[in-house]
Amino acid sequence: MSSHQLDRSIPIPLYYQMKQWLMSEIEKGIYKPGQIIPSERELSEQFQISRMTVRQALKELMNEGHLIREQGKGTFIAEPKLNQRLSQLTSFSEDMRNRGLEPDAQVLETSVINHAPAHVSIALHLDGDHTILKIKRLRLANKQPMAIETSFLPLSLFSGLEKKNFTSESIYRVLENEFALQLLFAKQTIEAGFPTKDEEHLLGISKGTSVMRIERVTYMQEGIPFEFVSSVYRGDRYKFEMELHR
Ligand code: GLP
Repeated sequence: MSSHQLDRSIPIPLYYQMKQWLMSEIEKGIYKPGQIIPSERELSEQFQISRMTVRQALKELMNEGHLIREQGKGTFIAEPKLNQRLSQLTSFSEDMRNRGLEPDAQVLETSVINHAPAHVSIALHLDGDHTILKIKRLRLANKQPMAIETSFLPLSLFSGLEKKNFTSESIYRVLENEFALQLLFAKQTIEAGFPTKDEEHLLGISKGTSVMRIERVTYMQEGIPFEFVSSVYRGDRYKFEMELHR
């Protein structure tokens, strides 16, 4: 920890100055992801400010995803968020590998269903009874939970897909290599939300951490929709980037 004094002569609140100091320590790499920071008591002594003031600075840094508090253990520097560009149609596996992370999945459910939920049938342009493969996976990067993805894929397009094991296999890779699928484009919506108890547990996030709910319909050659995916991404690990033109 570098020594630093807060400036009481300027009209910038002390909690904000402390917050800026901690942010610059993180940016300079003096504090690294996973490292514990001094306790509220130590910080209040070091800066000669009240613990309330320290708490306010730490709370904001936690809300912004820079710090993580672990009950009974202390406050730690968070991993930097993954910046996901939204202009490219990529798979989770590709995204993680491009960042030098190892993608993985824990398959939570694989089922063949005859009656898809109405919104799925509509998205996939299916009328009447269709057999659909539902795969729910917890997606991991370097063994850390990142997202929960529930995919619906019509088996009329991909017969035999239900026999595959998607623990370490990428769905897109299998579809491209074994079913000659050409990924064309996707339509996606993103909503902010709070996780359910189950999602909190699966993602290993603390109460109050926000999530992003993403729905994607992906299209193949001839503009045929081939997957409907509903996912829950960790709000503390992701930020989305898009390029806007005019
Ligand atoms: C991304 C997309 C999903 C898609 C998945 C495929 O996460 N948001 O819509 O189903 O990639 O991932 P993979 O090919 O690694 O199984």
